[in-house]
Amino acid sequence: MTETIDALTQDRALKARHRAMWALGDYPTVASEVIPELGPVLVTATGVRCGERVLDVAAGSGNAAVPAALTGAAVVASDLTPELFTAGRAFAAAHGVDVTWEEGDAEALPYDDGAFDVVLSCVGVMFAPHHQRAADELLRVCRPGGRIGLLSWTPTGFVGELFRTMKPYAPPPPPGAQPPPLWGDEDHVRGLLGDLVTDVVAQRQTLGVEQFPTPEAWREYWKTVYGPTIAVYRHIAGDPEEVAALDRDLTDLAVRYDRGTGSTVLDWEYLIITARKQG
Ligand SMILES: C[S@@+](CC[C@H](N)C(=O)[O-])C[C@H]1O[C@@H](n2cnc3c(N)ncnc32)[C@H](O)[C@@H]1O
Repeated sequence: MTETIDALTQDRALKARHRAMWALGDYPTVASEVIPELGPVLVTATGVRCGERVLDVAAGSGNAAVPAALTGAAVVASDLTPELFTAGRAFAAAHGVDVTWEEGDAEALPYDDGAFDVVLSCVGVMFAPHHQRAADELLRVCRPGGRIGLLSWTPTGFVGELFRTMKPYAPPPPPGAQPPPLWGDEDHVRGLLGDLVTDVVAQRQTLGVEQFPTPEAWREYWKTVYGPTIAVYRHIAGDPEEVAALDRDLTDLAVRYDRGTGSTVLDWEYLIITARKQG
């Protein structure tokens, strides 16, 4: 019993740290300036239709929720970090759609079994630390015969490599927390969804990130907007040599993933998985 209470307290503390991290910087700007095409890509791949009940898990500022609502679906955007909903509400209003914004942990979704026709997550659920718990929740709230659509950064792509690059500079992860980019590994996700799904389709695609004139320009932008990177720089702020080393490592990373066409175009690989929950 005491052990369970301790585990719950530790989990709450971990989620509070994650919430604070995602509220750092300006994540909505990343969504609108760097990865805006991913939400529509996921909505199209999952075939969201008018009138369907859709849940966007770890929705942030609505990168997938708003394009889903544009189809005429009834969309709930759920996220651990409600600080991001202000930008989400403005994004939805700018497109003239209604989205319901609700705080929630992907590992304990506050919805009934089978409440949604479609459950989506765009580079979102991958950041919940306990993968099986989160996958079980996605499946639980999806109705039998409903659809799941997941878009995640791959372990060997740019963002997977970004997390590997930052790891030596970051505090050790809490026991039991799994690395986010594993959700970009097809076999891992098939294992998480197990035999509760059919019609699994997996596809690896690449986002070309073109708005940064140089690798250093990406790095400086990223250090001011992206919570996980800001948190790592804060952790090493007292050690100028570490800061300089991480600066170098991030620049090298961007150079490695630059297409090499003369202007800077960074290739960011992701995996899209769609599946149907067994009827
Ligand atoms: C990279 S952002 C993606 C946001 C949005 N889906 C998009 O495409 O722009 C990751 C999101 O996961 C959310 N998140 C992290 N851990 C979570 C958890 N345990 N439950 C729900 N949301 C979580 C963060 O608050 C953040 O909004």
